[in-house]
Amino acid sequence: MITDPYAVLGRDYARSRRPDPRLADAVTHALGDARSVVNVGAGAGSYEPDDRSVVAVEPSRQMIRQRPAASAPAVQACAEGLPFPDGAFDAGLAVLTVHHWTDVAAGLAELRRVSRRQVILTWDQAVFARFWLVRDYLPEIAAHESRLACLDRVVDELTTAGQTPSVTPLPVPSDCVDGFLGAYWRRPEAYLSERVRAGMSGVALLDQDVVATAVEGLRADLADGHWHRRHVGLLGRTELDLGYRLVVT
Ligand SMILES: C[S@@+](CC[C@H](N)C(=O)[O-])C[C@H]1O[C@@H](n2cnc3c(N)ncnc32)[C@H](O)[C@@H]1O
Repeated sequence: MITDPYAVLGRDYARSRRPDPRLADAVTHALGDARSVVNVGAGAGSYEPDDRSVVAVEPSRQMIRQRPAASAPAVQACAEGLPFPDGAFDAGLAVLTVHHWTDVAAGLAELRRVSRRQVILTWDQAVFARFWLVRDYLPEIAAHESRLACLDRVVDELTTAGQTPSVTPLPVPSDCVDGFLGAYWRRPEAYLSERVRAGMSGVALLDQDVVATAVEGLRADLADGHWHRRHVGLLGRTELDLGYRLVVT
């Protein structure tokens, strides 16, 4: 059965979650010489290379609807049951989606079945828990995330399947274009915006009363200079490791 949490979560996705060119370069590099790519959990098409043959897999009609007209064809399906024969693609891509899958083991097994190389963007929860937004304002994010399948689970599943995945840190640029949860680490005012937060499932799925209290705390710390005094060391940095990782088999 296809469920669609992104019917609501994804309403403004194409605007709030545009691909960042530096992260796109890293993904393209990881795809190597793959000529055919299946992008699973493809959303609105971010990070799909335009110089190879791509098929997108996405369960949400809301997300498929936001794909640009010229983007790769999309099949409405879930990772857990990919409608393709064995070895149909050179590479399988999964960007910031595995944590949404209902059966991660089945989804990764399917990705391996249909592709020879897998490129998965996920994150290290232990590193992410040290991000100031999580540590100082919304520890509920880490509590929520502890139930999700992220880096450890992905590596475990792939290793159990007999593969030796490589894991590469993906630092987040200070002017990151893609509005995911860690994108605004040097632009804290952005987290005050309801519209910005709506594009981040890690915040949008929390109790919004808890979020409102945390946002007011951040607003006060920005207004009286506390945030800037505490994080002065971040202000001169152009990128930061928040735990995002590219897993490649
Ligand atoms: C955060 S979005 C990422 C979209 C896109 N990869 C990107 O980077 O912009 C997560 C996507 O995973 C999709 N998704 C959720 N459950 C899924 C499943 N079981 N199989 C495949 N995709 C799923 C959602 O519909 C959503 O489009």
